Amino acid sequence: MLSTGLNLPEELQGYHTLVPLEGSGAGVERRKLGNWYSTVYRAIRSSDGMPYALRRIENYRLTRQAAFAAIEVWSRIEHPAIITVKEAFTTRSFNDNSLVVVHVYHADAETLFEKHIKAKPPTVQTHFGGRSSQVLHANLPTLLPERTLWSYVVQIASAIKKVHDVGQAVRMIDASKILVTGKNRVRISSCGIVDVLMHDMHQDMGHLQQEDLTMFGRLIFALCCNNVAASSAPHFQKSMEFMGRNYSPDVKNAALFLISKSGPHRSIDQLLNIIQGKVLAEMDEALHATDRLEHELLSELENARLVRLLCKFGFINERPEFAREPRWSETGDRYIIKLFRDYVFHQVDENNNPVINLAHVLACLNKLDVGTDEKIMLVARDEQSCLVVSYKDIKLCVESAFK
Ligand SMILES: Nc1ncnc2c1ncn2[C@@H]1O[C@H](COP(=O)(O)OP(=O)(O)OP(=O)(O)O)[C@@H](O)[C@H]1O
Ligand SMILES: [Mg+2]
Repeated sequence: MLSTGLNLPEELQGYHTLVPLEGSGAGVERRKLGNWYSTVYRAIRSSDGMPYALRRIENYRLTRQAAFAAIEVWSRIEHPAIITVKEAFTTRSFNDNSLVVVHVYHADAETLFEKHIKAKPPTVQTHFGGRSSQVLHANLPTLLPERTLWSYVVQIASAIKKVHDVGQAVRMIDASKILVTGKNRVRISSCGIVDVLMHDMHQDMGHLQQEDLTMFGRLIFALCCNNVAASSAPHFQKSMEFMGRNYSPDVKNAALFLISKSGPHRSIDQLLNIIQGKVLAEMDEALHATDRLEHELLSELENARLVRLLCKFGFINERPEFAREPRWSETGDRYIIKLFRDYVFHQVDENNNPVINLAHVLACLNKLDVGTDEKIMLVARDEQSCLVVSYKDIKLCVESAFK
């Protein structure tokens, strides 16, 4: 069953409403993932109504069910810098044999490639006072700040450590397969896919983990030099010079350690030793960020308290339909609440103009919420009567009226 237009299945193994997250068709340059073309879709899972990212590998024929064993292992790996793998299945719903691997969906994600490496389209700039009023200006990618680079490196290193520690290899560490969400948060996407695609190759895990480190080193080169081929032979010398000029020697050391083929076995632990200063800096930053968030949340908590109080007022005040009911009479508790409402919101100045003073409102509501002993004088609108009551008394009135 194919929906018209995009030619996508309406329903796919419990997922619906497929939307491609990347262009396809004529005019779109497509890169292959190994030997295969792939497309990522956002789709809703019927069982929980949540969005997921489905990567479809075109024209893939599953030979043995055992190829899915790695998906099981991956689905148990949870790490803040790894996009969790949910499941994988084959399907004929796209009118071919496709493999689909489902990952957790992260809204507003951008790949590292799109964000930092891809040349941006030229923009039109207007020059005032110059000869030409419009100049086409190619946006050269800007240099990635070293602090951001280290933040990425530490997050990715931590993810690789997690994966290697459970005896797996990431197998795809590439600028186009790492997503940036929010401020400087990176996550490795597409885990598990290569394991299924290359299942028949029976590669040695130790070797694959070494490959991870090499790919990680290449990624650092690519990010520093805005070029995915920065560490390959024809560019290598130039890239080294460029990094030497623009980054601290620590960056070059880490990247060289990762891509070096000679010497004893490299391990992610060795890298973490080399960059331990940066790891601590990242942790400090993360703690600061949590403190800031907690601070922000506290004031939101305050707001929530006041909103609840205001809602109670909304329920209680002005219910003329109950005017004759003794429990709502203008002489009892409810009257105090009404006068208090006037005191908070409806004060007027000597010219009878409304006083709009938010600070007064907030102070009153906060005192009411706490129920302080402070006394205030409430005056009737006709100024014929007045009452002296404490916030504590008013709080009790509000509570009983609401109940
Ligand atoms: N788990 C996910 N959550 C949200 N968006 C995702 C997810 N995975 C991928 N995307 C988005 O889907 C788009 C396509 O991803 P993809 O990995 O195919 O990148 P690409 O640039 O097309 O690389 P390639 O050329 O190798 O296909 C990207 O813009 C990416 O941000
Ligand atoms: Mg793609």
